[in-house]
Amino acid sequence: MTDLSAARAAAVTDRGRLAGSAYSSDRDLAARQSLYQWQTPRYDLPGIVADRLSGVRGRVVDVGCGNGKFVQRLREDRPDLSLLGLDIAPGILAGVPGPVAVADATRLPLADESVDGVLALHMLYHVPDIPRAVRELSRVVTRDGSVIVSTNSDRDKGELDGLWRRAAGDVLGTGRGPARISLSARFSLEKAPAYLGEEFGQVETIELPGTITVHDPEPVIAHMASYRAWADQHDVPFEATIDRARAILAERIARHRAFEVTCLGGILVCRRG
Ligand SMILES: C[S@@+](CC[C@H](N)C(=O)[O-])C[C@H]1O[C@@H](n2cnc3c(N)ncnc32)[C@H](O)[C@@H]1O
Repeated sequence: MTDLSAARAAAVTDRGRLAGSAYSSDRDLAARQSLYQWQTPRYDLPGIVADRLSGVRGRVVDVGCGNGKFVQRLREDRPDLSLLGLDIAPGILAGVPGPVAVADATRLPLADESVDGVLALHMLYHVPDIPRAVRELSRVVTRDGSVIVSTNSDRDKGELDGLWRRAAGDVLGTGRGPARISLSARFSLEKAPAYLGEEFGQVETIELPGTITVHDPEPVIAHMASYRAWADQHDVPFEATIDRARAILAERIARHRAFEVTCLGGILVCRRG
């Protein structure tokens, strides 16, 4: 499923749900991030971003910085940069080394052309007005600065969607059950270039395909369960579906020794051109 119903789109972008539940701490984000340790090839995403910022000097802002994975790495690799982390969820900022501030991507507390590098990683799909956020990214970056965005493809982790629908169908007794929510569908790797092209003369897409292979259900189940903030959007009892998915997965791994998940994420490097 690549598009969201209006109700699901509203839930993916609802500030109260994002700040008060989904990202009130880094528990669920960390569960999603940690699944990638079983991916081949293994991409060092903070390293790729640091590399793409190698020509950038001065100020860099990470918009929607979450638990600070990128800010922390840049602090180590690029002590010369002046870094600022921004996020709408105060709770998730608690563990991020400062300076950090609570701020909305559609209303950045930054002057025009005042930063040399801007990151907006896996976050634009949460913004209700995506074109407005893209205009903000473009407004604050200097004329020759870089804006680095990331998201997932509509095809990312299709096997998890299949597993969810089978588990949901078993719970409901209906065969194939309703699809789970997709967070990135509103701003997928396929949709992102058109949004970004409205403001940036150059948009380079770097695709990062891979395969996650697990021999134990738990990392996959923890990833599925990390959508608990949107449990009410699933038209099926959420916990019961997670339990059923765990049983299906355990059976499949016992039979085939492994479960594979096909991944496609990507980074878009934008310049005003
Ligand atoms: C999936 S996490 C990504 C975190 C981090 N950028 C990363 O890639 O690891 C999305 C983050 O964007 C934040 N966010 C969502 N909507 C936002 C908005 N309108 N302005 C600023 N941050 C936002 C969330 O609170 C969350 O921390």
